Amino acid sequence: MENSCHEVKLWSFSCFYAKFREQIFFTWVVISVALHENGTMMNVLITGTNSGLGFGLTKYYITNGHTVYGISRKRNEELRKYDNFRFLYQDISKFSEIETNLVSFLNGLEVLDLVILNAGILNEVKDLKDTSLDEIQHVMDVNVWSNKIVIDTLFRHIKKIHQVVAISSGAAVSGARGWNAYSLSKATLNMLINLYAKEHTETHFSALAPGLIKSQMQDYIYGLPDNEQYPVVKRLKEQRESGHMAEPEVAAQLNASAIKQALKYKSGSFLDSRKM
Ligand SMILES: NC(=O)c1ccc[n+]([C@@H]2O[C@H](COP(=O)([O-])OP(=O)(O)OC[C@H]3O[C@@H](n4cnc5c(N)ncnc54)[C@H](OP(=O)(O)O)[C@@H]3O)[C@@H](O)[C@H]2O)c1
Repeated sequence: MENSCHEVKLWSFSCFYAKFREQIFFTWVVISVALHENGTMMNVLITGTNSGLGFGLTKYYITNGHTVYGISRKRNEELRKYDNFRFLYQDISKFSEIETNLVSFLNGLEVLDLVILNAGILNEVKDLKDTSLDEIQHVMDVNVWSNKIVIDTLFRHIKKIHQVVAISSGAAVSGARGWNAYSLSKATLNMLINLYAKEHTETHFSALAPGLIKSQMQDYIYGLPDNEQYPVVKRLKEQRESGHMAEPEVAAQLNASAIKQALKYKSGSFLDSRKM
């Protein structure tokens, strides 16, 4: 086809189409090289891409041309159409599977520019005295220990990791009644990140409170009856009703900007995306 276009100068739709494709490919190569040279095209790994903030962040990075490696138990169908989105079905609380599955998923990748440890669960809002050790253990497994396994695996197999951000919460420090295991898990997550910052000094670590996001987690809180014992439930419901709770895609923009800003703070810090 190329020869007939050049040598015979036969002008046809197929020649035009071949030239057009050649031009598009050339433009794509030029843009890719330019983006790589500016360090703006990134490999990003995000846990919990199925819904909420993780979904919003995934969409933000893929629509800005970055490659996202997403992990959750269910796949969000809207993300299927993007060629620069790779997906691993993985329950991150199944520790024994993580290393093997993650390594085969990343398939020899040498550099991760950004790792966002976002997957998390909120258990039932109730007093700590009514929360069993089994329940606490499960929340700690998903919100904390899975992140230890993911971090250790990545540092064993990936040559260069530029930045790790763990999505934390104001609950890590607020001590709000009713937030039992969730608060304990986020406080521990902050210290986990602080400690890793001292061990992996070539990588920037931070724990980031992302602000309020209209997500499945907040849907659960919104469905709870008002209860004087747990005033934060009422406050969150009011904030949702007054429009102070961002849609995931809006929250993702704020947090993506905070993630860039985080690099200016000391590695290991606990930050709040609303105050940066
Ligand atoms: N929403 C807020 O206002 C708010 C405030 C402060 C902090 N946060 C934090 O923000 C992060 C995202 O929460 P969100 O509000 O966006 O909640 P969400 O909509 O419930 O999203 C949680 C994500 O985590 C994934 N996930 C949960 N358990 C998992 C497991 N065992 N293995 C793999 N993936 C799992 C879920 O996907 P699958 O179900 O498919 O696995 C989902 O993608 C959490 O760390 C949360 O603590 C949220």
